[in-house]
Amino acid sequence: MYKVIHVVETDSTNVLAKEYARNGAVHGTVIVADNQTAGRGRLGKKWQSIAGTGLYCSIIIRPKCNRSEYSKMTLVAGLAVAERVENICQKSIELKWPNDLYLSGRKCGGILCESSLGREETDDFIIIGIGINVNSRVEEFVGEMRLSPVSLMAVTGIKYSIEQLLSDVRMSVLEKVTLFEAAGLAEILPSWKTRDMLAGKNIRCLAVGGRVVEGEALGVDEDGLLYLRDCEGVLHEVLSGDVQAS
Ligand code: BTN
Repeated sequence: MYKVIHVVETDSTNVLAKEYARNGAVHGTVIVADNQTAGRGRLGKKWQSIAGTGLYCSIIIRPKCNRSEYSKMTLVAGLAVAERVENICQKSIELKWPNDLYLSGRKCGGILCESSLGREETDDFIIIGIGINVNSRVEEFVGEMRLSPVSLMAVTGIKYSIEQLLSDVRMSVLEKVTLFEAAGLAEILPSWKTRDMLAGKNIRCLAVGGRVVEGEALGVDEDGLLYLRDCEGVLHEVLSGDVQAS
């Protein structure tokens, strides 16, 4: 049985999970909070937690794959969460590369993976942080999160058990991580692609090399990278920047 550490409030479950991981917490340990006072998103963004209305958790992973694979965990976790949430709320969940979950065209969740490299690979750990707007009312979001997020309840009208969601999501993520470690991203990518909300769309983003480029999103490759083709036919690798569909 995996250990679940529940706290009423913390700054960020990812920060707390790192402390537990450094102190030897085993693979699969989950930290969950009713509220976060400084929830974090990718690229230094804030993640707004509304007390008691969302799933805010971090899963400690002791990876059994090469370090070169760690960056793909975001895609692996995103797919696992999307599949489980879709199953629960019976509405399709799309993925926006690399880490956003969308429901009815609006963001309902996100993944923040952070890895820590030890002296030996066996000391490495990855924290998979998961935020899902479950029973939140959209009027309560402020600041960056005001950019049209949505909750499961706002779309379906159903109030969900966050405890049950945690248990389901945790199992789904751990199973998907095990599959990924055994078979690689190639095993997971076809399912990821069926949810890819950017593929074929015109996007604007920061490309490797630092230029802002615009063009058609070509989808994610087996290295977990996103490419676009500009109007002159030139291929650009998208940096882990913010990707906007235009
Ligand atoms: C994003 O949308 O950029 C990722 C958001 C990830 C939010 C979750 S909430 C639980 C965990 N703790 C954090 O501080 N962030 C992640």
